[in-house]
Amino acid sequence: MVKSIDFGADFLWGVAAAATQIEGAANTYGKGASIWDTFSARSGKIKKGHKPDVACDFYHRYKEDIALVKLLGFKVFRFSIAWSRILPTGRGDINPEGIRFYHHVIDECLKQGIVPYITLYHWDLPQALEDEGGWTSFSINAAFNGFVSICALEYGDKVKNWIVLNEPFGFTSLGYMLGIHAPGKTGLSNFFSAALHTAIAQAEGGKILRAEISKANIGTTYSCSEVIPNTQSEQDVLAAKRIDCLINRLFIEPALGMGFPTADWDVLEKFQIEYGTWRQTERLKFDFDFIGLQNYFPLTVKYNAFIPVIQAWEVKAKSRKKPHTAMGWEINANSFYNIVKQFASYPGVKNIMITENGAAYHDKLINGKVEDEERIAYFKLYLEALLKAKKEGLNITGYMAWTLMDNFEWAEGFNARFGLIYNDFKTQHRTIKDSGYWWQKFLKP
Ligand code: NOJ
Repeated sequence: MVKSIDFGADFLWGVAAAATQIEGAANTYGKGASIWDTFSARSGKIKKGHKPDVACDFYHRYKEDIALVKLLGFKVFRFSIAWSRILPTGRGDINPEGIRFYHHVIDECLKQGIVPYITLYHWDLPQALEDEGGWTSFSINAAFNGFVSICALEYGDKVKNWIVLNEPFGFTSLGYMLGIHAPGKTGLSNFFSAALHTAIAQAEGGKILRAEISKANIGTTYSCSEVIPNTQSEQDVLAAKRIDCLINRLFIEPALGMGFPTADWDVLEKFQIEYGTWRQTERLKFDFDFIGLQNYFPLTVKYNAFIPVIQAWEVKAKSRKKPHTAMGWEINANSFYNIVKQFASYPGVKNIMITENGAAYHDKLINGKVEDEERIAYFKLYLEALLKAKKEGLNITGYMAWTLMDNFEWAEGFNARFGLIYNDFKTQHRTIKDSGYWWQKFLKP
């Protein structure tokens, strides 16, 4: 049975969340609209027409919620800053109420002995910047750098742990290629230009934090999935390699100074856009102190001639009879172990933190209790796999569970419950689930 102490006394245990998913107060206290405010107002974009306007009302309840982080025994609280709360139109005039709000949240964490990890960009681009083209536009980089500087100067004395971006592949693919997430754009040229500016942003954001904050611990996060070829045929193996370039390698390799993975996916060569930046390896490079990994499922991939450009697609893995979460995501802790090892094998990766991992289930609140045994079993499996990787010598220094409480799960609205704490969105009443109590026991010294 896995124990927290097996990970070592210095191992950092945390719980993660993000501004749009929990804060609410979306149109008040001087906050400008983000792409999620406008996207969720469009019909048919979010399940059941849910909107993040109120979400978990963390804006008004942050003290109690930070107290819950502490009560569950976590040392770290990872949260994000909403760019349009600080800069309502993305650049220019600063909103003093927004600045104050994050001071309050940080101060409350410090007062309660919780270490804040701040994510600078967790998907909520100011709508005013999207109106200029958002991440597809060359102008986004200067705007993002301005936002990073403000946050660094304002909070850098109090906060040492920073995450530049949350899942660059996640927001560029879902938001600019598939159109499932805000801003709802589609197509490869949108995706590749968004990817390029995002890769620049992660490096430049890191450099600004390094210059402005003494003793900063700077990271960024990547979604990652082991890519398993459906068969060992050459076509399937090469298809899996292309998907691996796209979903796992596209952002970390430029950050490590390796450039984009063009050798294994030549299509990337065709997307050299804007001033040759695609090849500016120095500009795209930053020496991160830690790499955050976020894993939820593996992908099984098959060659498919009908899929343009990538000629590969996901298939159901018939050979593996694994259970799935309520998101339909395969539970496969061994694939978690494999993908962590894959990322750890880059010589430039010095330190890995799992910055998200968790599961959604159809939780039911019955007589004041949520008996989410499946979630507990999920955490046990994944922690065992992580411990195995750590014992083999990988420098894994922390784990953050996703997520503190049920919240606005993007296009899924409030239907997908990932929390350790059940939230009643009508009353904002929080109930610690059995998994939350499991964590409390697990973390007890
Ligand atoms: C990754 C994202 O960072 C987070 O916002 C989301 O809720 C979880 N995955 C679960 O889908």
